[in-house]
Order: sequence, then structure tokens, then C-alpha cells
Amino acid sequence: MVSHSGTGYHGRSSISLHIFESSPIRRHCSTTRNENIQMDKETPPVENWLNLDEIEDVATKTVSRKAWGYYYSASDDKISKYRNTEAFRSIQLRPKVFIDCTNCDLSTKLLGNPVSLPIYVCPAAMARLGHPSGEAGIAEACRSFGALQIISNSASMTPEQIVAGATEDQVFGWQLYVQSDRTKSEKMLARINKLEAIKFIALTLDSPVSGKREDDQRHGNVNNTMTESSSEGGLFEHSENNAIKPEHQTEDQVFAGMDPSLTWAETLAWLARHTALPIVLKGIQAHEDAYIAMKHRSQVKGIILSNHGGRSLDTAPPAVHTLLEIRKYCPEVFENLEVWIDGGIKRGTDVVKALCLGARGVGIGRAALWGLGAGGVDGVKRTLESMKQGASTKIIRMLLTHLDSSKRRDEDLYASAWRGTCQRPWTTTCKST
Ligand SMILES: Cc1cc2nc3c(=O)[nH]c(=O)nc-3n(C[C@H](O)[C@H](O)[C@H](O)COP(=O)(O)O)c2cc1C
Repeated sequence: MVSHSGTGYHGRSSISLHIFESSPIRRHCSTTRNENIQMDKETPPVENWLNLDEIEDVATKTVSRKAWGYYYSASDDKISKYRNTEAFRSIQLRPKVFIDCTNCDLSTKLLGNPVSLPIYVCPAAMARLGHPSGEAGIAEACRSFGALQIISNSASMTPEQIVAGATEDQVFGWQLYVQSDRTKSEKMLARINKLEAIKFIALTLDSPVSGKREDDQRHGNVNNTMTESSSEGGLFEHSENNAIKPEHQTEDQVFAGMDPSLTWAETLAWLARHTALPIVLKGIQAHEDAYIAMKHRSQVKGIILSNHGGRSLDTAPPAVHTLLEIRKYCPEVFENLEVWIDGGIKRGTDVVKALCLGARGVGIGRAALWGLGAGGVDGVKRTLESMKQGASTKIIRMLLTHLDSSKRRDEDLYASAWRGTCQRPWTTTCKST
């Protein structure tokens, strides 16, 4: 069962979960944390990094201040960033007993593509700020875990470079920020269409304007108000063999190009004319939009619930709240679209909670960058290993032995989240035994 310490939903337009007050956060409450870090030369060996916070700590001491500022930052007071993690921690699990879970299998399918983990790496710009192996380094780590990776429109390497070492079964998505000059996006899409390893387009919608990221500004990052949304479109129009050097970005480039005029009616039809790849909408933050996305299911095959790691609009809801909203108000979305989620995922328990609530894919953003910054490819592997291990043991504890839809018992997924709750506030698919 999943329960909340608060009162649950109070109506369609006024959602109040009241789950933050009772969620002690070990460490993410200070907005100034890490700003005066002393560089520690004695980095512990990779095998000693036990969890994502420890890996972030190592990275914090390892990467440049510029990289740290860019990766760590979030909009305004970083309330959404912190709440992303708090929201997961405030949800409780109630495992069931007496079900044979000898064989625990984390493999599943994402958009029909077999993957070994439900955990994927989110699109994130400028991986080479953290480590020279960049996005290709993340791809290498994902390869050894059978994990899916979404390549950012603003990656610091070309998509061709990133997928160059892909194995036949490796799965990538490519994230798009639509440009006002549509021909630029169309040219990129034409390139992406040729890359077999890229199986879908993730269209990011949550950042039409920049968030104010003060850590980034304070550390003199690429420029004072860098955003993925503005930077990741026109700026990163790299030629096929020409990677972007993050340090070469200019203010003009960063603000150039983003199309603020995207709409349900026009943009999806435009996109469909330029790619036959499945479309996933990234940045859904309200059940109403999830529902509309479902209505466009002839083009849209999935949605990613995300507030951009709190980097876009501060106080936007944690994605797991949006997940709960969808369960309550339009659960049919789960039948018609794949629902993925990102933001604040730090532990295997977070992954299991998201899965229990109906998500199929669970994304990590900063965690992969911190892994990369801390230890290059090995650091990302360690990050994935830690998440995999955490999720496996928790899944065994939750008695969810299979995630693959053909094998998994949906009743177990949902019922172990809900069964036994006193209020059963989200009963739509709950079956009691
Ligand atoms: C440094 C950084 C760069 C990012 N760049 C992109 C991007 O290029 N495109 C995009 O859609 N999202 C981008 N994101 C958002 C992530 O895809 C993801 O939604 C978010 O990081 C998840 O939250 P988490 O960092 O708490 O895991 C970026 C996030 C970070 C931290």
C-alpha cells in the first residue's frame, strides 16, 4: 500500500497532499549546500560509493565549479527540486508476504523495446562539462546494464557519436526542443531518423521560458541564465561530426531559437510529418494534459511526468503527484499510453513506488551526470548498479517478481501499492483479495 501522512486529495483543481511536513530529509534542505566545498584530493574508490548521495558528494569534489553549478542548480529557491525527492520519501510501502519471489527479474519493455531495467537515463545537456567521455560515456555505462538513454537535443556530442558504439539491442531516444526556425529541427530529425539505435523522440514541453538558476549564475556558468530550453535547440545544431564545446557557448546562442508557439493542434502534426518514430511528451505536470495526450494517442505513445528536475518553474509539482492525479482522475491514461516519470529519484524504493503507481519507466537525470563527473563511465555504472541493486531488493520485498507486462501480475503491482489502505483514495484499479 501507499499511504500519505496527509489528507489526500481535495477536489480536482485544488490538490493538497500535505506530505512534506512529515518527511524528514536527511540532507537536501540547505539552499547553500555545496557552495563552499573544500576540494578533497582523496576520493574513495568507486566500489565504496554506496548510494547516489555519496556519488554526488564525490562528484561535487571532483567536477569544476562551473559543471557543479550547472548540474546542481534548479529554479529560484529549488523548492520543486527538493520536493521531488521528499515526495517519494513520504510515500510508504506495505509489502505483502507468502508469494514466491525466488526469481526477481527487472527486465521490461519500454515502448515495445526490451530493456534490462525500468530505470533509464534522462536527457541532460552538456555531459562533457562533467567528464570528457560525455554522453558517449553514459551510453557505454547504459550498454552494460541494458538501460535506455535519452539523448539531449543539447548534448555536448553529436547523436552519431553517442550511438556509435551501440549494440544491436541498445535503446536510445532523442529529445527535441522545437526551434522557431523549424528547418533546423527538421534537419536534426532527418539525421535522427537515420540512426537505428534511436527508437523514439521525446518532445520536451516543460521549459518554454528559462528558470532562474542562481547556483548556475553564481558559478559563472555558460552564461548567466542558461536553460536547457533555450540552449538546447538552435544552439546545439551540431554538424554530424562536430561536437559542441560547452565552454564555447555564447549568450546569444543560449537564447536563440526556441519556439514558444507550440500547440497540441499544430506541433504534433508537424512532428509526424518529419518522423515516423513514436513520440513521447516530456514535462507533463497535470492530469488534464495527460488526458489530452491520450486523446492524441495516434501520434503520442508515451508521456514523461517531469518538472525538469525543478529547473524550469519552481513550485511546480513533483512528478509523483502528477502520477497520483492521473490514477485518481483519468486512470485510463495508463491503458493507452506508457507513463514514465523522473525527478528526485534516488533510491530503489523510489523506483518501486513509481512502478507500483503505474509508471513503466523511471528516469534519473542529475544522478547520471554526478556518476559521470565522479568517475567517468565507471561512475555512471556505479550509479546504475546502486539503483539496480536497490530496486531489485525492494521489488523482492514488494513481491513484484516480474516487470515484463507479459509476466507481471498487475494486481500485484497495484495491489501491493493500495491493498490494505484505510482510505483507499485511489481505488480505480485496486482489487482486493
Ligand atoms: C544538468 C541538466 C541538464 C538537463 N538537460 C535537459 C535537456 O537537455 N533536455 C531535457 O528535456 N531535460 C533536461 N534536463 C532535465 C532532465 O531530463 C530530467 O527531467 C531531470 O533531471 C530529472 O530530475 P533529477 O535530476 O532529479 O533526476 C536536464 C537536467 C539537468 C540536471
